[in-house]
Amino acid sequence: MDLKSLIRDIPDFPKPGILFRDITTLLRDPEGLRYTIDFLTQKCVESGIQADYIVGMEARGFIFGPPLAYQLGAGFIPVRKRGKLPAAVHTIEYELEYGTDSLEVHQDALQPGSRVLIVDDLIATGGTAIATAKLLQKIGCELVGFGFIIELRDLQGRKYLPDVPIISLIEY
Ligand code: PRP
Ligand code: ADE
Repeated sequence: MDLKSLIRDIPDFPKPGILFRDITTLLRDPEGLRYTIDFLTQKCVESGIQADYIVGMEARGFIFGPPLAYQLGAGFIPVRKRGKLPAAVHTIEYELEYGTDSLEVHQDALQPGSRVLIVDDLIATGGTAIATAKLLQKIGCELVGFGFIIELRDLQGRKYLPDVPIISLIEY
């Protein structure tokens, strides 16, 4: 299936010069959605990834993480932006284009040695994925891979990630 044809390009969102890859048009297509989840699952299985948990980042990692977790027989753990999770959290600060932001995970969600696969809709600079990986490493988790629907190759985010399988379904 031609997944790229289901992704909508929006120029100059959220700011001038950014070509936004909009996945909402993929999500609303029943066959496209099913194919995407099945393809991501298949690639994880082929890569030999065995995960106890899928960790997905707010907000779009919450869309693809849970169905993948369901397919792989894993649990899903949300990583959220600052101040959203109700119980005690671990926090990591990360650099944005302007200033810093932070990501958080519940302290009791993961244990040292948990095998974790990080999932998001898209990797651009890799900043979000690297910060999440650092957060999990702080806990002592075993990072077993990354899964993305879209990879923006020009930004080379992949080269900053740890040496584990990195899966992406669509490249620009
Ligand atoms: C987008 C996207 C990834 C991240 C990728 O999220 O869903 O999480 O950017 O960019 P990076 O590789 O340069 O870090 P965004 O921060 O826009 O948050 P949102 O999903 O809440 O809109
Ligand atoms: N996140 C970072 N860069 C993006 C882009 N070009 N399209 C959609 N989401 C993004």
